[in-house]
Amino acid sequence: LEEGLPLLATPEALAPLLPPRPLTAHKGSVGRVGILGGYRGEGLRYAGAPVLAALGAYRMGAGLVHLVAPEGPLEPLEAVFHPVPSPTLPPLKVEALAVGMGGGPWGKAWALAALEARRPVVLDADALHLEVALAYREAGLPAVLTPHAGEAARLLGTGPEEVAQDPLGAARALAERTGLVVVLKGNPTVVAEGGRLSLNPTGHPALATGGTGDVLSGAIAALLAAGLPPFEAARLGVFLHGLAGDLLGEEKGVGLLAREVAEALPRARRLLE
Ligand code: APR
Ligand code: MG
Repeated sequence: LEEGLPLLATPEALAPLLPPRPLTAHKGSVGRVGILGGYRGEGLRYAGAPVLAALGAYRMGAGLVHLVAPEGPLEPLEAVFHPVPSPTLPPLKVEALAVGMGGGPWGKAWALAALEARRPVVLDADALHLEVALAYREAGLPAVLTPHAGEAARLLGTGPEEVAQDPLGAARALAERTGLVVVLKGNPTVVAEGGRLSLNPTGHPALATGGTGDVLSGAIAALLAAGLPPFEAARLGVFLHGLAGDLLGEEKGVGLLAREVAEALPRARRLLE
């Protein structure tokens, strides 16, 4: 492939990446995920975002999810909940992490705490800072950054309009600047690593609703935990998340909840198998 031409994320290219689920699988063998995020401040709380990431991880096939957050989920959740009063890393047996969802002013502290786990990571939302990205790069840890156009603009020191005008160029610039894998979200979503670019063909405007990005970060973390390299985990996660949006958008139209996108991930996965 000529340098600079984007790859298209096709079903044929992605299906072989699906982590196998052998008959002997158990919850400790298929990938355990840590979710670090949430914020509790004066008059403002972000409790839902890390829960949605936990649902994204389970629905992408994680065996066990550990949720590290200041507040527990409002409804019973299959995750192991580690309540912490502020961003810290408890001892966790996990293969990958997703960090920053709903972190608000705690986003950077969550990301720096998570560094100590020395595991592959998805850095999302409020964990997205250039100094954080460079710290992961310096530590030699596989990391996937998942900014939307506004977050990418903040990282690049430009405006969201510039990013939206040239998403391929912006994703590549951010990947080159950080040395990490970049998922620049939107329509289209672009995945970049070094000079490699991948254009995602799935996705639906019904996904433009709060929390769908959090579901995506958990989903990519589950694929990292299952052992996929970061570029592959990002491409496959983005493709299936977009396909879940396509299925639901066709069936239900606009007015989706992010948790429904998580629920549709197994169906999207079966279509790819
Ligand atoms: N077409 C296809 N996909 C779309 C579209 C569209 N028109 N609009 C949104 N999406 C997808 C994106 O590609 C991405 O996967 O929906 C997801 C939205 O993710 P975010 O923009 O991160 O939104 P989300 O995280 O759900 O919003 C909650 O988190 O990042 C912060 O600033 C954000 O405060 C917000 C909060
Ligand atoms: Mg987001």
